[in-house]
Amino acid sequence: MHQPTRLVVLVSGSGTNLQALLDACADPAYGARVVAVGADREDIEGLARAERAGVPTFVRKVSDFETREGWDASLTTVVERFEPDLVVSAGFMKLLSTEFLDRFLTLNTHPALCPAFPGMHGPRDALEHGVKVTGATLFVVDAGVDTGPIIAQVPVAVEDDDDVASLHERIKTAERAMLVDTVGRIAREGIAVDGRRVRIGDAAR
Ligand code: GAR
Repeated sequence: MHQPTRLVVLVSGSGTNLQALLDACADPAYGARVVAVGADREDIEGLARAERAGVPTFVRKVSDFETREGWDASLTTVVERFEPDLVVSAGFMKLLSTEFLDRFLTLNTHPALCPAFPGMHGPRDALEHGVKVTGATLFVVDAGVDTGPIIAQVPVAVEDDDDVASLHERIKTAERAMLVDTVGRIAREGIAVDGRRVRIGDAAR
């Protein structure tokens, strides 16, 4: 890994997880920096956050390509240009191709305790199921939907009067702290992925 570790962050929406990473990277001791931010749509707050921080951005919209494979290839090419050590999918609502995942170590943050409630609606599905504890998971992306090796998890209590928005907001507060802490430790100490077991620390370098 480069020092500081080079991060490309992918977003599809408000980008509060991205903002937490940008804020953390402002401290040189954090050990990482965001070298580019990519999105699958225009006019989102995530891109505006990157622009305000002076970080280069790129957009690849699936609808601009004749095939999904064309989009996958273009995304891989543009990410490659920034030579990331890690790609962080932070609220990026597209599945990535195996070619992309073979090329870049890619992390994703999901607003549920995997393997529970994968997909686009983690907080809603947890609430509908009636669980009393949910949370957020940071994992290494594989070919499945939120199925990859787990790096870190944080629990969040479900309150009796929660709706989807209040629960997701509480999850996101815990999720941002977990993301910043874990990405920083990976940047400074390294990561080793052995099957489903993930280790951070000196031995992982
Ligand atoms: C986050 O809670 C993230 O875990 C979730 O979208 C939110 C993005 O928030 N991602 C998924 O549900 C992916 N399955 P943000 O744009 O404010 O960082």
